[in-house]
Amino acid sequence: QYTAEPFVPGGADLPALREAAAGCRGCPLHRDATQTVFGAGNPHGRVMLVGEQPGDQEDRKGRPFVGPAGKLLDRALAEAGIDPAEAYLTNAVKHFKFTQAEPRKRRIHKAPTLREMTACGPWLAAELALVEPELIVVLGATAGKALLGSSFRVTEVRGTVLETEIHGRPERLVPTVHPSAVLRADDREGAYRGLVSDLKTAAQALA
Ligand code: URA
Ligand code: SF4
Repeated sequence: QYTAEPFVPGGADLPALREAAAGCRGCPLHRDATQTVFGAGNPHGRVMLVGEQPGDQEDRKGRPFVGPAGKLLDRALAEAGIDPAEAYLTNAVKHFKFTQAEPRKRRIHKAPTLREMTACGPWLAAELALVEPELIVVLGATAGKALLGSSFRVTEVRGTVLETEIHGRPERLVPTVHPSAVLRADDREGAYRGLVSDLKTAAQALA
């Protein structure tokens, strides 16, 4: 059974959690990735955005949402009227999972398994307990499954405000698509409009 649990210090603040997460060996994903990419942003942000896992650039830089998906997300947040200074950004899984045909070839993102998401869950639970956001924006299916269970379907609930208990706490959530999915969409402009529209629902829920 993979789990981050023994690596999560009790009573820690966010900087201490971040430091501890750097040494997490709770599942095999730490072996091939460069480093743990812990959450970042406003430690008391009113909104927490939860993505899937760090991408190639996040893995190199050690910060979430600094690559192409993050740039698109920043633009969509601004357009929806969500102040990035009010946001805490994190991922369901804190290590980059990828395949690589050969060393020095491009590293291609691979979706984490349910076991890996479950293993990494204690970090997300600890972040939620400390940041105490008023609203969680769920970015895509992986984050949704990690937070709401394996029956989560992003198409069924996107752009709506859900209220449910997560890790023993009542939470409000607005699910939407993942910014990487927007970048891959055939109708990129339409997909982007959909993301902004869902984020506007989140902005209204925060108002
Ligand atoms: N995609 C994510 O889900 N998270 C990141 O940090 C970057 C890309
Ligand atoms: Fe630990 Fe999560 Fe990294 Fe697995 S992915 S080693 S559980 S931080």
